[in-house]
Amino acid sequence: MIEKINTLKAQIENLAAADAGEVEALRIKYLSKKGEISLLFNDFRNVPAEEKKAVGQALNELKTLATERINALREGLAQDSSAVDGLDLTRPAAPVRLGTRHPLSLVREEIIAIFRRLGFTIAEGPEIEDDWHVFSSLNFAADHPARDMQDTFFVQRSPDVLLRTHTSSVQSRVMESSKPPIRIICPGRVYRNEAISARAHCFFHQVEALYVDRNVSFADLRQTLLYFAQEMFGPDTQIRLRPSYFPFTEPSAEMDISCNLCGGKGCSFCKGTGWVEILGCGMVDPNVLQACGIDPAEYTGFALGMGVERITNLKYQVKDLRMFSENDVRFLDEFTAAR
Ligand code: DAH
Repeated sequence: MIEKINTLKAQIENLAAADAGEVEALRIKYLSKKGEISLLFNDFRNVPAEEKKAVGQALNELKTLATERINALREGLAQDSSAVDGLDLTRPAAPVRLGTRHPLSLVREEIIAIFRRLGFTIAEGPEIEDDWHVFSSLNFAADHPARDMQDTFFVQRSPDVLLRTHTSSVQSRVMESSKPPIRIICPGRVYRNEAISARAHCFFHQVEALYVDRNVSFADLRQTLLYFAQEMFGPDTQIRLRPSYFPFTEPSAEMDISCNLCGGKGCSFCKGTGWVEILGCGMVDPNVLQACGIDPAEYTGFALGMGVERITNLKYQVKDLRMFSENDVRFLDEFTAAR
C-alpha cells in the first residue's frame, strides 16, 4: 500500500495539462469517486491494524497533494487564457475622447470674465416673461412695433405671457429688487419670431450689462466699452459710437469696432468701411429708473447689450448662424484648441 501511495505521489508531483479539459481528466483520474486515490481509501479497511496509522496519514497527504496540484494547474491555465484570447491586460486603455466647449459658451464665458474684472456680477432672469419686464418697464410705448406679433412669441394673451425678446428684461427685474449701486451682467437666451436663415434665427443669445449709481456718466460708458473691445479683440482695437435710438436709453448709441479682419483697412467682411457694428448702448432713460423704483434725480446709469452670436462670428468667422444650433461634430471639433 505504501509503495502504491509513493508511486502516485511521484506521478502527481509531475502532473501537467495543456487545457481545462486535461485538468478535468486528471481530477477524474485521481480524485473522483472511482479515481485512484478513492480506490486506495476503499482498500484501507484491508490494511493491518498496526500499519493503519502510518498508511492513513500517507493517504491523507496524498489526497491533499493531488487536490492542490490540480487546483494549481487550473489556476495557471485561467491566467494564461487571457493571453490566448489576445487580451493584454497590461496595455494602456484606449484614450477617452473628450467633447469640446460650444463656441457660444466659450465666447459668453470670455465676455463675462472681462466684465467681472470691472466688478460686474452675474444676474439671471426667466426666459418666459411678462409684458412689464420685457416692454412696459423699459419705456416701450403701447404701440411700439417691437411688441408686434411678428417679433414676439406669445405664450398667452391678456395678460400677456411671452418669450423674452431681449435680456434687457433682467435689467428691470434687478432694478426693482435691489438698490444702487447696481453693476450686473446678464447672459441669456432670447427669442424672436423670425424666419430661420443663415443670418437670422428664432433664438439667439445676448449679454446685457447695467451700471446704476450716483454720477454714472457717458464717459464711464465709453471707457467700459473701450476696455471691453480691447480685451475681447486685441489692444489695437478702436471703437466708435454712432447716435442711435432705443426706448430704454437716452441718449442711445451703437458701437462699432475697427474691423479685426483687415485691421480697419476695408475688406469684404466690413463691406469696405473698416468698421463693424457690435452692440447697442446708452444712458438708462429716467423713465426706466422711475418705473423700476429708482429715483432718477439721485441716480444715473448706463446699459449695453450685445449678441453673443455676433461676437462669435467676429472672432471665428462663422458664416451661417444655423451652425450654432445644429450640433454637427465636424463644426464643434474646430473649437477643440479653444477649450
Ligand atoms: N435690447 C437691445 C436689443 O435687443 C440691445 C440693447 C441696446 C441693450 C441698448 C441695451 C442697450 O442695454 O442700452 O437689441
